[in-house]
Amino acid sequence: MSFLGFGAGLRSPHYSDVLSGRVLEVDWFEAISENYLGYGEEPAGRPLETLLKVRENFPIVLHGVSLSIGGTDPFDRSYLKSLRKLYEIVDPAWVSDHLCWTGVHGHNLHDLLPLPYTRDTIGHVVSRIQEAQDFLGRRLTIENVSSYLSYASSEMSEWEFLSEIHARTGCGLLLDVNNIFVSAHNHAFDASEYLQGIPEGSVTQMHLAGHSSNEALLIDTHDAPVCDGVWQLYAEALKRFGRISTLIEWDADIPVFERLEEEVSHARSIAQRVHGSPILAQNPNRSRKDFHQPSGTQVSVGAT
Ligand SMILES: [Fe+2]
Repeated sequence: MSFLGFGAGLRSPHYSDVLSGRVLEVDWFEAISENYLGYGEEPAGRPLETLLKVRENFPIVLHGVSLSIGGTDPFDRSYLKSLRKLYEIVDPAWVSDHLCWTGVHGHNLHDLLPLPYTRDTIGHVVSRIQEAQDFLGRRLTIENVSSYLSYASSEMSEWEFLSEIHARTGCGLLLDVNNIFVSAHNHAFDASEYLQGIPEGSVTQMHLAGHSSNEALLIDTHDAPVCDGVWQLYAEALKRFGRISTLIEWDADIPVFERLEEEVSHARSIAQRVHGSPILAQNPNRSRKDFHQPSGTQVSVGAT
């Protein structure tokens, strides 16, 4: 998978900054797929026009929140068709969603809920990823979620669960370093052990974000700067996995774009320290063909 550099989540308050034409500290953007789906299977008009303007100068990754890859309801075919059409139009560098379930019996809980880490769940998730990859014609990249509960039925660690699913489906992994940090605190596991348990070569992308806390738990709120502990864990992840496309998520109390750029810049400086070579911003006039990936090369389905 190609290395895109250091990116940021594309959010509407920043559209004018992103399209200003000035050199940005951001190399690429991740857009939330659902924000660009319209009614039925037609993509949204105005938001999609904006996304395609951004796409003229920056690589785009499409990140979904509604696939419910671990759910037990059948996939929503209308949603999958809409996604497939959006992928055809945008031709993202890759596509991703979360290793979670989001509802049951047709009820959407609007949350990314963790799964029990069992052999049976692995079999279920593997067949669901294969079905989605077949339908979408794309390799999926799957993100670890933060969690605030665990299941008495779990038979293995989260990293063993994630690694087995990667091995059996060929899906990429989107490691959210903040989610690992948050869950490590909430469940009292060792975040470094988590990283060591993920196979080298499996990670397509990393996420970084801020979180908040109450007396007992850390909560993945995406409303603050990345904390020192997450930066340290990120450096550890870079040592293990090498150069990995990295993205800052900031979804609540969204700051001015320049503040977001500072976070991106800090991620870049850590990577430069870890890997010992400068990694430069490459926008805004980088030729589109430099990062264009023909979608025909991205399909990877079935057990491996
Ligand atoms: Fe994330």
